[in-house]
Amino acid sequence: MYRTHNCGELRVQDKGKKVTLAGWVQKARKLGGMTFIDLRDRYGITQLVVEAEAPEALVEAATSLGREYVIQATGEVVERQAKNAKIPTGDIEIKLECINILNKSVTPPFTIEEESDGGEDLRARYRYLDLRRGPLQRALALRHKVAHETRNYLDSLGFMEIETPYLIKSTPEGARDFVVPSRMNPGQFYALPQSPQTFKQLLMVAGYDRYFQIVRCFRDEDLRADRQPEFTQIDCEMSFVEQEDVLNTFEGMMRTLFKNVLDVEIPNPIPRMSWYDAMDRYGSDKPDIRFGMEIHELTAAAQGRGFSVLDQAGYIGGICVPGASEYTRKQTDELTEWVKRPQVGAKGLIFIKVNADGSFKSSIDKFYAPEDLAKIAAAADAKPGDLILILSGDNKRKVQTMLGVLRIEMGNRLGLRHPKEFAPLWIVDFPLLEWDDETQRFYAMHHPFTAPKPEHEKWFYSDKKEDLERVCANAYDFVLNGTELGGGSIRIHNADMQKRMFEVLGIGPEEAEYKFGFIINAFKFGAPPHGGLAFGFDRVCALFGGQDSIRDYIAFPKNNQGRDVMIDSPSAIDDTQLDELQIALKLKAE
Ligand code: AMO
Repeated sequence: MYRTHNCGELRVQDKGKKVTLAGWVQKARKLGGMTFIDLRDRYGITQLVVEAEAPEALVEAATSLGREYVIQATGEVVERQAKNAKIPTGDIEIKLECINILNKSVTPPFTIEEESDGGEDLRARYRYLDLRRGPLQRALALRHKVAHETRNYLDSLGFMEIETPYLIKSTPEGARDFVVPSRMNPGQFYALPQSPQTFKQLLMVAGYDRYFQIVRCFRDEDLRADRQPEFTQIDCEMSFVEQEDVLNTFEGMMRTLFKNVLDVEIPNPIPRMSWYDAMDRYGSDKPDIRFGMEIHELTAAAQGRGFSVLDQAGYIGGICVPGASEYTRKQTDELTEWVKRPQVGAKGLIFIKVNADGSFKSSIDKFYAPEDLAKIAAAADAKPGDLILILSGDNKRKVQTMLGVLRIEMGNRLGLRHPKEFAPLWIVDFPLLEWDDETQRFYAMHHPFTAPKPEHEKWFYSDKKEDLERVCANAYDFVLNGTELGGGSIRIHNADMQKRMFEVLGIGPEEAEYKFGFIINAFKFGAPPHGGLAFGFDRVCALFGGQDSIRDYIAFPKNNQGRDVMIDSPSAIDDTQLDELQIALKLKAE
């Protein structure tokens, strides 16, 4: 037996026990003839002590220990003189009788403690060492707990966990596919699933009624803090349901996860907002409603004073930043530069300061008299002390989106986005279709299997662009603190309606047959009404942990270039493999 206890469990009640621990040496230090060793494992840290008068061999062994040596140590639990309130084992230490070195370690490239001195890239290359650190161990423990609670909840409602294949055909979730060449079918490729969407629908056709899967998905898209090329979904589907049933089931799931994992009560019911309201008020389809600073339309109030930038705009909108009327010229100039960054894309920023005495100072004083500014301030619902930030442009949604980005930035700057405060929200009534001017065609806002709202079906079959633009989808997103945690819809379950959807999306009958013939065909065999959703599991974990980045909630994540720098992947394959696959490379010059 390697150990009697782990490094996190001994307490003062265990005083006098003879114990054996095993773990990694986090630190060994000499102090007045005594040697203190911090022994670490997944469960915690226990202090070991070798006294000055201990047998020479033991003192020598203790002195020889380097960082990250793996040892087995036997001794007696004693109460500490100098207690350490910071760790649960801080009241005791082990007076050692024996040390057995199980394995040595070369000096690690960075410190393996709560805070590490290693840079991100270095830690990524030695991920297995970084994973020994407390913060990462706690992140993965949280992930395990969320998975466990999710399974319990869904199992209790009769959901069955069923695995779906990874080597499939393209699923249209809007990203690029990762593809895998088939050796046995030269020239042909599998696509890795962007989600199990089509398979879970086929499981409904097959009568499985309630399905879930904690499942890996693959998307070849640009990466961000909350996006990985391979990530995990809590993917669910139900038969004989309407939107209300799905929302209730998964509100229940989120409420249970919050309660059982974080001991946090979230609002009951969770508020709902239409996509149109979310865009108008927050400039985002995933609004952070923990703080105000809502967008106000100022088009009517701001036009007609001879300032061409505003007079020619199709839409003018603004947000009021509380307490910011005292911003200096330098600060407003900096904000103007900030909104011109490509990530925001505004041409410029107009501001009006509403001073504490009710007077105004603005960047458009040349064109606007105080009473004109007062009119705009009233339309913006501004209070004394506010700084009104105004953007304008031709396209209402684009301007609102920019204001939405600016709003989040101001929320961050003002410290209004507390990581431990949770404001969940359902976004409903999405447009079904999105027109793209560049390609002159409609795209599915969610995915092409999403059904139109029954009351909008008449427009769905119309040939007029305006009618199609009006159709709302039977779709919903679960949003938390400005992040889209999940989304889903009631599906089309009728072959003719599915064909119509492909037609609207400009996918011809042959292409539809080639890509999706299997599902259209399945719908001919008694497909039940069904719907579902998927949560981003990594995102749920990161938000529960109070972090923006999902990377530390994944044991072995990729970096921003999509690389695993530890195993050095992706990497070239050798000519024999290429030959077997009958693939020749045609690389572009840099
Ligand atoms: P959707 O594409 O909205 O829906 O994905 C569902 C959720 O998955 C998470 N997510 C990601 N997380 C990390 N990295 C990524 N690259 C990434 N992409 C998405 C998000 C998102 O809300 N089949 C549909 C679901 C359905 O209709 O049932 C789907 O995949 O949190």
